[in-house]
Amino acid sequence: MLELLYMFLLIIKQKFVLFIILLFRINIMIKLYIIILTLIAIYFYQNEIIKCLDTFVKKSYLRLKGINIDTEKLLYPKHIAFIMDGNGRWAKKQKKERTFGHINGANNLEDIFYNCFSNGTQYLTFYVFAEQNWKRSKEEIDNIFEIIYKKLSLYFKDQMKYRLVVQGRLDRVPKKLKKLLTSIENKTASCEKTVILCLDYSGRREIVNACKNIIDNKLEPTVENFANSLYVKGIPDPDLIIRTSGEKRISDFLLWQLSYAELYFTDVYWPDFNLVELEKAVRDYNSRQRRYGVAA
Ligand code: FPP
Repeated sequence: MLELLYMFLLIIKQKFVLFIILLFRINIMIKLYIIILTLIAIYFYQNEIIKCLDTFVKKSYLRLKGINIDTEKLLYPKHIAFIMDGNGRWAKKQKKERTFGHINGANNLEDIFYNCFSNGTQYLTFYVFAEQNWKRSKEEIDNIFEIIYKKLSLYFKDQMKYRLVVQGRLDRVPKKLKKLLTSIENKTASCEKTVILCLDYSGRREIVNACKNIIDNKLEPTVENFANSLYVKGIPDPDLIIRTSGEKRISDFLLWQLSYAELYFTDVYWPDFNLVELEKAVRDYNSRQRRYGVAA
C-alpha cells in the first residue's frame, strides 16, 4: 500500500522515470491493480494528464536547450500583444520569397495560443495587417490574406476553443475572408480565451473614430466613454507587448491600449519566435515592477 502511495506521489511530482522503474519492481498483482487504476484515472482526468505531460515535455525541451527555468513559477500576463515583425527578412535570409516568411510566421501561432492559454493568459492580440501594409505589392497583400484565410479555416474547422475577435476594418479585406472571420466570430462568441486579430488596423484611425463616436452621440469626453468607443469593448489592455526583429517602435499599434503595457523587444525574426523565445519574454516580464504611477 505504501508503494502505491509513493507511486501516486511520483506521478504528482512528475517523476515519471522513477515511476516506471518502481513499476517493474513490484509484483504482478499490484502491477495489474496499478494498470487498472491508471486506466480509470486516464478516463476521468484526461485534461489534467495532458496538461501534466505537456509541462513535462516542455520542461525537458527547455532543459535540452540549456534554459533552466521552472515554468510553473512564471506568471503569464493576462493579455499579451504581438507585433510579428521580420517575416520578409527571415525569408530573404533563406533566399526565399517574402511569402515563405509569412507562411512560416503563421505556423507559429498555434504553439503560442496553446502555450499562453494553458499557462493562464486570457487574451492574445496579433498585429496581422497594418493600415500602412496596403503600400506593399498587390501580390504580397493577396498572399497574406490567403495565408490568413487558409490558416483560420483549418484551425477553426472542427475546434471552437477560443473566441476570435477582429479589431480593425473589415470593409477592405477580400469578401471570402470577411465572411469567414464574421462566421468564426459568431461561432466562438461564448468562448472565454480570446484571440484578437488586428486587421487593416491603425491606432490613430481607431482614436479618430472614437472621437467621432463621442461627438456624434454627444457623449461626455471621459476616459470610460472613449474606451467604450474603440473598435472592441470589454477587453482589458495588454500587459505585455512583444515586438520581434530588432525594431523598437510601436508603429501605430494599439496607441490607446498600450498606456501601461510592458514593452519587450527581441532581435529574433517572427518565424523563429518559438516557445523558448516566448518563455524568455515572459521571464523578462516577471522581472518588471509594474507601478502604475505609484512611488517605488
Ligand atoms: C511583418 O513582417 C508581418 C506581416 C505584415 C504579416 C503577418 C501575417 C502573418 C504572419 C499571417 C498571420 C496569419 C494568421 C492566421 C493570423 P514583415 O513582412 O514586415 O517583415 P520585414 O520587416 O522583415 O519585411
